Amino acid sequence: MKILLTKEQIAERVKLLAAELNADYEGRELLVIGILNGSFIFMADLIRELNIDLKVEFMGVSSYMDGVENSGKLLITKDIHLSLNVADVLVVEDIIDSGVTAARLVEMLKSRNPRSIKVCALLNKQSRRVNSFSADYIGFEIEDEFVVGYGLDCAGRFRQLPYIGVVQM
Ligand code: IMP
Ligand code: MG
Repeated sequence: MKILLTKEQIAERVKLLAAELNADYEGRELLVIGILNGSFIFMADLIRELNIDLKVEFMGVSSYMDGVENSGKLLITKDIHLSLNVADVLVVEDIIDSGVTAARLVEMLKSRNPRSIKVCALLNKQSRRVNSFSADYIGFEIEDEFVVGYGLDCAGRFRQLPYIGVVQM
């Protein structure tokens, strides 16, 4: 496993992202929606750096059946049952790759009329984008490599790694 981002580099960047969010959402009531499974560790670290009034929910969304290929389908495996029309929604994603998942998810959530909706992604692979989706907050811009760790998996494995690494295939 080649280490791409160390535990320390991630922690430092998460603090900076949180500082941005603290400033941008000051005085607002935030609904933070973590996208399972990949965002759970990032989510846990990020919200503990936030000092704004917030609620936490999780949604299960899958566009990858298994392994590394994008099936192109958005499957909602766990939904939230809160009304969004009084909430400033922040979607927390592990990574934006093709952008298909995030674009479809945002479109779906917008139809529930949130007060506002933004996306915060730990990682972004801009070179893989197939649409015009762009996240509002990005932790790190990375190359076109398949990464694991800090919540991200390869066929369900490696989520527990404290760093982000590249799987050698
Ligand atoms: P997209 O729809 O292609 O943007 O895919 C987004 C989802 O694919 C992410 O939420 C991840 O679950 C998964 N994914 C994309 N690239 C990687 C990667 O390099 N490692 C692990 N999961 C990835
Ligand atoms: Mg995911």
